[in-house]
Amino acid sequence: MISHIFIIGMMGSGKSTIAPLLSKELKIPFTDTDKDLENILNLDIKKIFDQLSEEKFRELESAYFLEHIKKSSTIYATGGGIVMIKKNRHILKSTGNTIYLNASIETLNNRLVNDQKKRPLFNNKNSLKVILNERKRYYNDCADITINIDEKSSKIILNEIIEKLNR
Ligand code: S3P
Repeated sequence: MISHIFIIGMMGSGKSTIAPLLSKELKIPFTDTDKDLENILNLDIKKIFDQLSEEKFRELESAYFLEHIKKSSTIYATGGGIVMIKKNRHILKSTGNTIYLNASIETLNNRLVNDQKKRPLFNNKNSLKVILNERKRYYNDCADITINIDEKSSKIILNEIIEKLNR
């Protein structure tokens, strides 16, 4: 059976940064579902939300995800909302190792405040709190490994992931 590594967590938690680093270290290819969808649709995430709707984005994200996981072992940088769909959660729980990059609202806000144009769901700290409250149980439920990333460099996070994967 194919076994994947899924990186989950809120927007701004560093999934897209960690996935290629982990890929290099483990010599397993990686994919970034947001970037793939942007390429397929030839629209950036903000435009997908504006022109199609959040609901349509979730539908397309899930369809792409459920199809892609049939391929060979891959490290996935998932979109922050992947856990909102039950079928996706089932895959995260049953098809490999799921790593949750857990960050405080403070850390997420500091990172996102300068990157607002790319994040259709981010307005301010409060919007992050609302989203995290809704998703936290799903992130925790799907995670095999949780890494607290506050104040840690990518290198330290990477080492922690590798250490926990080897346990
Ligand atoms: C989303 C997170 C984004 C992107 C979309 C929705 C979310 O991905 O999929 O804007 O619902 O949290 P990142 O987590 O990579 O920013």
